[in-house]
Order: sequence, then structure tokens, then C-alpha cells
Amino acid sequence: MHDVNRFSIVDCQVLQLPKIHNRAGNITPIQGLTEIDFEIKRVYYLYDIPGGESRGAHAHYALHQLLIAASGSFEVELEDGTDKKTIFLNRPYNGLLIRPGIWRNIVNFSSGSICLVLASEKYTEHDYIRDYSEYKTIRKTANTL
Ligand code: TYD
Repeated sequence: MHDVNRFSIVDCQVLQLPKIHNRAGNITPIQGLTEIDFEIKRVYYLYDIPGGESRGAHAHYALHQLLIAASGSFEVELEDGTDKKTIFLNRPYNGLLIRPGIWRNIVNFSSGSICLVLASEKYTEHDYIRDYSEYKTIRKTANTL
């Protein structure tokens, strides 16, 4: 069984990450099962994104992710089949948790921004739901069970 219908947008919160500060700059460490509630199996980052561009527009069956604006800013539009919310990220010490079954669209990247992603699973295309109407059907079916 997968977790695609287990979470709502209420479960997608912005975490305040540790910030170790000194006069030479800051460090934000993130450890699996410590600052976040999953093991980190994959790290990737989006960069060289033209200003104003969008990415995402999919959901995952099983993947938990933490999204961080490592540089610059962007907005993350979240949807759970019923409700929507938009989160603005522009601090490297904040991370947005995105749970399985949440449709996400990342929009309005500032130019030069970097979106760092910590993921609970290795990459597999089988974990993606890329068709929005299919996504709505999957979530709606659960609500009527
Ligand atoms: P995708 O997740 O659709 O990107 P975005 O949501 O940011 O627009 O991935 C784009 C392409 O990159 C797709 O062909 C799959 C590939 N990809 C990998 O091979 N490994 C990965 O870890 C990720 C995230 C993507």
C-alpha cells in the first residue's frame, strides 16, 4: 500500500532548520531522522532556471521531500485534491516538507535561484503522477471510500 491518500496540505509545513552563525557566515545542517522525519536517500537541486519560470506539476505516490530555497526565492503551490495553499520560500534555513500525494507546482523562481531538494527515495519514474486529472481521480476515489 502506498501513502498517496494519507496526507493533506496541513501536513506540509515549513520547518525552521538549525542555523549555526559566525562572523564568517552560516551553516545549516540537515540530518535524516533528526531535523526531518525521513532518511535522505537522494539530494538534487534545480538551478539555471530562467526568472519567472515554473517547474513541478506532479505528485508522488510515496516520496517525502524537503524543499529549500538555497539561494533566491520561489513559490510552491500545494494541493491535496481538496484544498490549496501557496508557500513562499526565500531563506536557506527554512525547508518545506512535501508529503506523498500532494500536487505541487513551483513557480516564480527568481533568477539565479537554487531549489535544493532532500528526498526519501531514489529516483523512479513509477513514483510520479504527472497527469492532473488522473491525480484528481486518485484522490477523489479515496474520499468516497
Ligand atoms: P522532474 O521531477 O519532472 O522535474 P521538475 O518537477 O523539477 O520539473 O524531472 C525532470 C527530468 O529529470 C525527468 O526526465 C526525470 C529526471 N530526473 C532524474 O533522472 N532524477 C531525479 O532525481 C529527478 C528529480 C529528475
